Amino acid sequence: MNNGLPRPVTAVILVAAGSGERLGYGMPKAAVPLGGEPILMHALRGVVASGVSSQVCIVLPADAASLHASLEEFRQELADGGPILTLVDGGATRADSVRAGLAGLIDGVEAVLVHDAARALAPEYVFHRVVDALAAGAVAVIPAVPVVDTVKTVTRTSGDDSAIAPELVTGTARREELRSVQTPQGFRLSTLQQAHQAAARFDEAQAAAVTDDAMLVELLGVPVHAVHGSTQSLKITTPLDLIIAEGLLEGPLGIRWVEG
Ligand code: C5P
Repeated sequence: MNNGLPRPVTAVILVAAGSGERLGYGMPKAAVPLGGEPILMHALRGVVASGVSSQVCIVLPADAASLHASLEEFRQELADGGPILTLVDGGATRADSVRAGLAGLIDGVEAVLVHDAARALAPEYVFHRVVDALAAGAVAVIPAVPVVDTVKTVTRTSGDDSAIAPELVTGTARREELRSVQTPQGFRLSTLQQAHQAAARFDEAQAAAVTDDAMLVELLGVPVHAVHGSTQSLKITTPLDLIIAEGLLEGPLGIRWVEG
């Protein structure tokens, strides 16, 4: 629900340049079919349907010929309406891809949402919650859901994965304080730019530890706010996730925009 405050001019960076190795389709994850269309197109339709953005900057994998064709078709579907679509090439890491997206933004953008194409079914209302929190003055906003599993920390006791018990438990996190974090993650543009400029100087080990944008903003000491995400925003990573996503599209929930 819009809180009535004027929304910032917003762009969405849709990162889709991952290899998708864990899905095992032998093609970039964004091109893998879901309900007959590439995963990327579901994500893009969701972004556009939310109506929050003036520009969608799509960050593509190198071998993306089939995606270019789908995107061209979609561009024609949009005709004169909808946001500006910009296509840029991705980088070796997700953060590199986000930086490529930042470089492709048009003038006048005040806020940016970074969204994983892999979260292709993220509902519109999550986009609205994030943008409304930015409109209310937050500098950084992420969607999050409670954790259902008990989460433990471990240390490896054996380098051999086939050992009977290669890990030892070192602690148990307090579940009520834990959240699983999703995308779209929203930021004031200048803040995300600053965070990514700092991250561009990370060494290899530091860069490998970066798994979302909010953690880079946390390092600046900027408060990061959380809004309710949705279980429907699952990140399609493994073949099981793809089955669940197919089920969400075709099953009793039927349409993609389901409250939950
Ligand atoms: O690899 P992971 O599942 O964390 O990727 C999350 C999102 O980031 C995916 O949508 C993927 O396409 C994107 N990504 C990217 N460039 C990379 C790695 C991942 O755009 N080099």
